[in-house]
Amino acid sequence: MYENIKKKILVTCALPYANGPIHIGHMLEHIQADIWVRYKKLIGYNNIWFICADDSHGTAIMLNAKELNISPNVLISDIFYDHLGDFSAFNISYDYFSSTHHIENMYFLHKVYYQLKLKKLIKVKSILQLYDTKENIFLPDRFVRGTCPNCFSKNQYGDNCSSCGAIYQAEDLINPISSISYTIPVMRSSAHIFLDLKKLQTVLFQWIQSGVMYDQIVNHMKTWFKKDLKNWNISRDLPYFGFQVPDMLNKYFYVWLDATIAYISTFKQFCRQNNSLNFHEFWKEDSKTELYHFIGKDIIYFHALFWPAILEGMNFRKPTKIFVHGHVTLKGIKFSKSKNNSITIKNWLKYFDSDSLRYYYASKLSANIEDIEFDIQDFVYKINSDIVNKIVNLAARSASFLNKYFDSVLSKEIENHDLYNHFVSLNYQINNFFHNGEFHLVIKHVIQLADLANQYINDKKPWNIVIKKGNRDLQNICSMGINLFRIIMIYLKPIIPDISKKSELFLLNELSWNNLHIPLINHRIAIFKPLYTRINIIDINDLMI
Ligand code: 2FM
Ligand code: ZN
Repeated sequence: MYENIKKKILVTCALPYANGPIHIGHMLEHIQADIWVRYKKLIGYNNIWFICADDSHGTAIMLNAKELNISPNVLISDIFYDHLGDFSAFNISYDYFSSTHHIENMYFLHKVYYQLKLKKLIKVKSILQLYDTKENIFLPDRFVRGTCPNCFSKNQYGDNCSSCGAIYQAEDLINPISSISYTIPVMRSSAHIFLDLKKLQTVLFQWIQSGVMYDQIVNHMKTWFKKDLKNWNISRDLPYFGFQVPDMLNKYFYVWLDATIAYISTFKQFCRQNNSLNFHEFWKEDSKTELYHFIGKDIIYFHALFWPAILEGMNFRKPTKIFVHGHVTLKGIKFSKSKNNSITIKNWLKYFDSDSLRYYYASKLSANIEDIEFDIQDFVYKINSDIVNKIVNLAARSASFLNKYFDSVLSKEIENHDLYNHFVSLNYQINNFFHNGEFHLVIKHVIQLADLANQYINDKKPWNIVIKKGNRDLQNICSMGINLFRIIMIYLKPIIPDISKKSELFLLNELSWNNLHIPLINHRIAIFKPLYTRINIIDINDLMI
């Protein structure tokens, strides 16, 4: 695979709602993107930027603040710092993290709105909507439950059916009930603004087929084009927490509009801080830079239709690729705060560290959108078996003799060139796996290498060699073990940054992809200190909130 490491790349994760703590289900995506970004940097990309922001608007946040008896502004500000702390605890290497509730975002939102109007892509229409007469509020999609008009499965949200996947309007639900007051809503008329997706249908249909997503997803998306695309309602009525539509009374922009636009405005804020970045170079229509989004499979519609539609309207570039992942499940059920089925980051860190979850997720992440089951036994087993028994132990058993008898200095030669070269030669494959998001294959191949390395030590039985200061064989074998450990850690560096840092301090050498082929020769290492300690099974209920 040819890599142009001079390329300029912008990477984003979907913006987490500023409505509660980050849980390990959310963290999957941030870990996935972070591994990808770290891998790119490791192989030499210097112009890759990784940004995100809190998604700080919408009814859910407004109602949550009301329940907590604080203003939405206070809520989103508290949560902003909380999220920052969680991402930093997991070594998610954002270059910039902002919020959708930012003046820069409002500026771009207005710019988008007027530009779409100019292009006659905006329509105003009165529609009938579900209204909660007890709460005096137009009901947002997610606050109505009812029977799916397509497959008749009960208790579905007002935007899409979790059973058959159909997308519909809340008004289409059969027997709707307000989830706020549990009363039956009535229909009321209100004027709204719509983005005319029908006009962009051809462009969008072409774009989704241009290699931006896995075939499996594109095939599913094509079914949406069988009928005309429905126009997208981008406004909401009072009460709402968000940005007001400038030329309409008491109307707000729908949270999803300013959320996607925050990809642009967050980058703009970053450019203001970093003079070497040129905003237009990244966003102009014919940009040579690349734009990658990491998202969950539940928000494909927003990213593969609405978002490119906005970009088309703006004459901005479109994404290079969208990486889509499945959800994290526990006994088959999606992790979700609202379902009281989640493990917050803070709880996780009471019992485990961040590298363990990063490693576990990496071992499960592939290029498809299958859900990832979190199984505590499988998790503990994998960490102890792979990281402790196979990887850290390889360093420990090799270092002990070197520290004790050779003044911590590695030998002047490589004991087994073929084996060393075999380890190095795998870098092409590993490179491809990382690039394509096939992290489970990275782990699989690296663990095969670790098995080979341990087998090498077992066969050579250094402990049987007469232990005498200056015994060349003993020094050569142990040095080989350390050099193989080093290659393994270079491959794993994007996945487990904390253990990598400790390994660098032990090796007294930076884990560098470019130096894979250059073994450590006649090089002094540090006194070995445990790089990782065995973890124990705990009751999953202790981990849950
Ligand atoms: O689904 C979510 O969690 C949204 N907050 C994601 C927004 S991503 C982007 F488009 F803004
Ligand atoms: Zn259905």
